[in-house]
Amino acid sequence: MTETIIADVTVYDGTGTQPFPADVTLRDGRIHAIAQPATHAPAHAIDGRGLALAPGFIDAHTHDDLIVIAAPQMAAKITQGVTTVVVGNCGISAHADFSAVDELPDPMVLLGDPAQFRHADFAAYARAVEAAQPATNVIALVGHTVLRARHLDRLDRDASQAECAAMRHDLEQALAAGAFGLSTGLAYGNANAASTQEVMALSEALRDTGALYCTHLRSEAGAITQALEEAFTIGRHAEAPVIVSHLKCAGAPQYGRSGEILAMMEKAAADHPVGCDCYPYTASSSTLDLKQVVPETPIKITWSEGDPTQAGRMLSDIAADWGVNLREAAAKLQPAGAVYHCMTESDVDAILAHRLTMVGSDGLPCDPRPHPRLWGSFPRVLGHYARERGLFPLEVAIRKMTGLPADRFGLRKRGYIREGYAADLVLFDAAKIADTATYDDPAQPAAGILGVWVNGTPTLTAQGLTGARGGTMLHRTTPAHHERIS
Ligand code: ZN
Ligand code: CU
Repeated sequence: MTETIIADVTVYDGTGTQPFPADVTLRDGRIHAIAQPATHAPAHAIDGRGLALAPGFIDAHTHDDLIVIAAPQMAAKITQGVTTVVVGNCGISAHADFSAVDELPDPMVLLGDPAQFRHADFAAYARAVEAAQPATNVIALVGHTVLRARHLDRLDRDASQAECAAMRHDLEQALAAGAFGLSTGLAYGNANAASTQEVMALSEALRDTGALYCTHLRSEAGAITQALEEAFTIGRHAEAPVIVSHLKCAGAPQYGRSGEILAMMEKAAADHPVGCDCYPYTASSSTLDLKQVVPETPIKITWSEGDPTQAGRMLSDIAADWGVNLREAAAKLQPAGAVYHCMTESDVDAILAHRLTMVGSDGLPCDPRPHPRLWGSFPRVLGHYARERGLFPLEVAIRKMTGLPADRFGLRKRGYIREGYAADLVLFDAAKIADTATYDDPAQPAAGILGVWVNGTPTLTAQGLTGARGGTMLHRTTPAHHERIS
């Protein structure tokens, strides 16, 4: 039996309420006891005086599907205090065998190379994650675009009834094997031809399971209000909670619309479980999308197969060198990755601060010049947004990355500091925690994080990563099952 005591630490328990001092004891992977600080801490205790202890952070939106297998130490996440990642977002997931294809359907390249997609089905993917023993826990969604790629011969059209039935069967099998829900990426070319009816038919598999519908909206631009209505329609039809991925006001015509968008979210949330995730930056990132190439949006090319020598440069500089317009330059660079400076501070502030918003990094682990959100999102919310800017109290910031996502995803005994809960914990200095990753130098670990435990396994100490990997694949339990157990 191994026991760890963190003595006289300030506990932020994940509820969003005021922190309190306590001695917290971990035993056998769980939080064993939370007690009034003893007058004399035992000799082997970790001195928590002046430090904060929070539930391990849950990254509600990632593309870590294959990196949890390829680089299971998960340095970018553990160094931020993240102990659980939600994978399978934006319509793309790794429960597929594409090892024989030359080029992956866009934007699956965000997850890895074709050779890494070698999982016959969701259960095989889950087994591969378990075999890799990642440092973080993993929650997986099933991507709609991948279902389409598995069951349609071409992706520029709506699915037939038979194809819908095949996709639905695939999704049902994944849900039975522990998947937490369905994700779509309807803005991407390979899903955009799918009708609302196609997604509604598919989403019926979510009914009565407690699984979620997560969506990268069909439009994050001018048609965002229609896209939100579509998401709510699908969620209500499926009787499934809705999570709007990386909610934002992107592009100059959308600037200042956060109030209107959040009012729509609130209205929908009044009679249906609705929420969103958000990363704390004013730039987005994905594969290079010609629709988003406009003069008002400064774009940095992070990688390019069309001309690898241009990686790291601004698209406007490349276009000027080549004597062509922005779209012509972008077309020549394809396939490529990009960072788009497309949001305003005030819209990001409003969305991040909203009570329905969780923190999700949307980090891109395979990008050679990743957006800094991959390494910096969580310390940035706690340091820049909570401490320096005072956008919300620290306990509220912590709730957005712990209890709130645990509730949304229906996690059992995680996301809060409570006796009997999994010992997923992060110890940090609230006065020093900060993101150090920048757009120019993005692969930088956070400052101020002194300890991370995953299922009780010490994964990071003040000396750095321990190399231990205590994470596991989490399997969804149905609400009825949930009640029986707890
Ligand atoms: Zn997305
Ligand atoms: Cu995403």
